Amino acid sequence: MSLAQEIDKRRTFGIISHPDAGKTTLTEKLLLFGGAIQKAGAVKSNKIDMHARSDWMDIEKQRGISVATSVMAFEYEGKRINLLDTPGHQDFAEDTYRTLTAVDSVIMVIDCVKGVEIQTEKLMEVCRMRKTPVISFINKLDREGQDPYDLLDEIEGKLGINVHPLSWPIGMGKSFQGVYSLYDKSLRLFKAKQQQLHEEATKLEDLDDPRLEEFIGEAHAAQLREDAEMLLDLYGPLDVDAYLNGDVAPVFFGSAVNNFGVKELLDAFLQISPRPIARMMDEREVLPDHKAFTGFVFKIHANMDPKHRNRIAFLRICSGKFERGSNYYHTRQDKKFRISQATAFMAQDKETIDEAYPGDIIGLYDTGNFKIGDTLTDGENGVYRGIPSFSPEIFREVINKDAMKTKQLEKGLTQLMDEGVAQLFNFELGSRKAVGVVGQLQFEVIQHRLKHEYGATVEFVGMQLYKACWISSQDEKKLDEFIRSKQRHIAKDKDGKLVFMAESKAWLQMVQDNFPEIEFHFTSEF
Ligand code: G4P
Repeated sequence: MSLAQEIDKRRTFGIISHPDAGKTTLTEKLLLFGGAIQKAGAVKSNKIDMHARSDWMDIEKQRGISVATSVMAFEYEGKRINLLDTPGHQDFAEDTYRTLTAVDSVIMVIDCVKGVEIQTEKLMEVCRMRKTPVISFINKLDREGQDPYDLLDEIEGKLGINVHPLSWPIGMGKSFQGVYSLYDKSLRLFKAKQQQLHEEATKLEDLDDPRLEEFIGEAHAAQLREDAEMLLDLYGPLDVDAYLNGDVAPVFFGSAVNNFGVKELLDAFLQISPRPIARMMDEREVLPDHKAFTGFVFKIHANMDPKHRNRIAFLRICSGKFERGSNYYHTRQDKKFRISQATAFMAQDKETIDEAYPGDIIGLYDTGNFKIGDTLTDGENGVYRGIPSFSPEIFREVINKDAMKTKQLEKGLTQLMDEGVAQLFNFELGSRKAVGVVGQLQFEVIQHRLKHEYGATVEFVGMQLYKACWISSQDEKKLDEFIRSKQRHIAKDKDGKLVFMAESKAWLQMVQDNFPEIEFHFTSEF
């Protein structure tokens, strides 16, 4: 197959949701269609169970599970689908944001009872920023949920995206009859616990078909006719370009646990979702059919096997063809590496692969050469953009409790930061180190891992910090002056970039007013 055909064949997407909306369940059903798993229950949730937080083995186990399911590739209807799972738990939001940099589109699961929830709003913000195409799946129609029109309004209002329903529910909860596809005008009647994967829907030439009453009863038939007419009037045919631009989200209704409405979702996804898209390397756009190989690391996972301290770097291929055994250029280190071990993730199994194409995610065996955001090429220079660090929300000072293990601590901290577990800020004055995270749980993970993987004992002490702001200025002299006058509050991030550690919102505002020549940034990429 030619490079162009390989690219055409690929669809790389992520599933996002607030915890409990049904992401794991939907993932599992999609894998069933792909034949990647044989029975339900095979996909484990990557949820971190808050009640089990004191049980460290459990966190380790859960981390293990989350990596096993973090990339799943399968074939369906001649397409190669790469599905990327994202942690729903807010404490690992950064991990999710980075995963979203590696996908070309997103399926967003919404619980019809709870509607749009907070984590969905945050994730959608990232999608909007990147103009990622989104398809929405409204789940759990077998429950008494909110009115479908209200749900659509809520999505538009809270998520800032226009919607376009492609299917419509008939009843809900106890009276749920099924869904009508506005897309191909077919009717699918609800059956709980649908096992049949390929049961055909009933095609209706038009909704005046008298069989409609037979299928769903008079009242539902009348309601559906009214709804369908109004919806077709209101929305017309789907503008696929608007979807691809991230302006319109097609919406499907169903029930993942009952395997209902999932096939319609998958079929439409295959028809409209984007093939691997172009990405920005420095200031230029690299198309997937650019002949030379390029890719970037968006995730690093340690402890694939706790007995060996090995790491896997997850690389998204952006252009060209990857061949195992070739030498590739690591642009940050300005060094060539021979890549002799690479894995693909097929559902729950890893397997060695010899070649891979744009859109694919491969795992590179890593002994400490990679950091999140690293770019690999055939020899070209440059760095893929779009994997910024965001200012953390909570800061703690790291206190070394075992002076004999200072070296181990340094090494452990560096490696954990390379993995993106948290962000480390080294203050210019003294040797104070601040660790910044999005959620409390990360401190516990860091403390535990430093102890068990590196033998270092640390304590975290609260710090009065509001935000880490990356600073820059057109005027070098002014920047120097600023640094001198605020020395106690200046730190460097993992890449040596200057950061102003603001203690409070009000104080930051005051400093910004007093130093108009200094630019304050809330992400590391500006
Ligand atoms: P998540 O990954 O988004 O966090 O959600 P997950 O799939 O784990 O689903 C959360 C809960 O919602 C699960 O129930 C799951 O069975 C249920 N669920 C998923 N889809 C549907 C649906 O279409 N209808 C209904 N009624 N429930 C659905 P649980 O009790 O937490 O776990 P389990 O013991 O049932 O697996």
